[in-house]
Amino acid sequence: MEKKEQLYEGKAKKVYATDDPELLIVDYKDDATAFNGLKKGTIAGKGVINNQMSNRLMAKLEKSGVPTHFVRELSERETLVKKVSIVPLEVIIRNIAAGSFSKRYGVPEGVVFEQPTIEFSYKNDELGDPLLNSYHALALKLATPAEIETIKDYSFRVNDFLKAFWKECGVTLVDFKLEFGRLSDGTIVLADEISPDTSRLWDAKTGEKLDKDRFRRDMGGVEEAYAEIMSRLEAHL
Ligand code: TMP
Ligand code: ASP
Repeated sequence: MEKKEQLYEGKAKKVYATDDPELLIVDYKDDATAFNGLKKGTIAGKGVINNQMSNRLMAKLEKSGVPTHFVRELSERETLVKKVSIVPLEVIIRNIAAGSFSKRYGVPEGVVFEQPTIEFSYKNDELGDPLLNSYHALALKLATPAEIETIKDYSFRVNDFLKAFWKECGVTLVDFKLEFGRLSDGTIVLADEISPDTSRLWDAKTGEKLDKDRFRRDMGGVEEAYAEIMSRLEAHL
């Protein structure tokens, strides 16, 4: 599959056209940002890990009945995906209090919820991805009621699957962010990526952070954490 013109460059990935109007190539970078792009850096080898991890997990999710944009891995950093128009909602599922939840509601990090929470942000960098509920999403015409129901259903199914998978790897899935897209026929599929950039992953025994919080919080050992989480995943494929 030939890479044609670059269509888009995001914070962590570039997207290219292909000969097929329904397919795109995603190219994962080592660039890392946080706090809506205010903090910038590089995590050596991150692009390779995020590409491979996201693909392995999406292939498994697809088998478990959640449709995704994943088609085929082309190289260490490049993947062929179905072209979607992204629903401008960031969906965050949380199993344990951390990050903005802990800050907003005054709950210490690490408090385990009896059941997972779901929240939506309006995917809009200029506005700083503001938190919204499904009524706001409908008022803003970001998605239809049926699409929101599908997105919620898939998101909780992704959580059930990922929580169990990471548990087998000795990792606690704290929270994660998903994005969905519409195929040309309107079908909703899981898009974007599932990686340590978009998830909080803690060592189940020690509680050590094995994700992008090490970069966000200047904790050091960032590359090592990405390598460790990837090797845990590879041992359980
Ligand atoms: P938060 O606690 O900062 O709201 O983050 C919740 C989860 O979402 C966490 O796993 C990191 C992920 N996330 C992203 O993938 N992109 C973002 O822009 C933000 C703010 C969080
Ligand atoms: N990548 C996001 C940004 O640059 C935020 C994050 O992951 O913390 O804003």
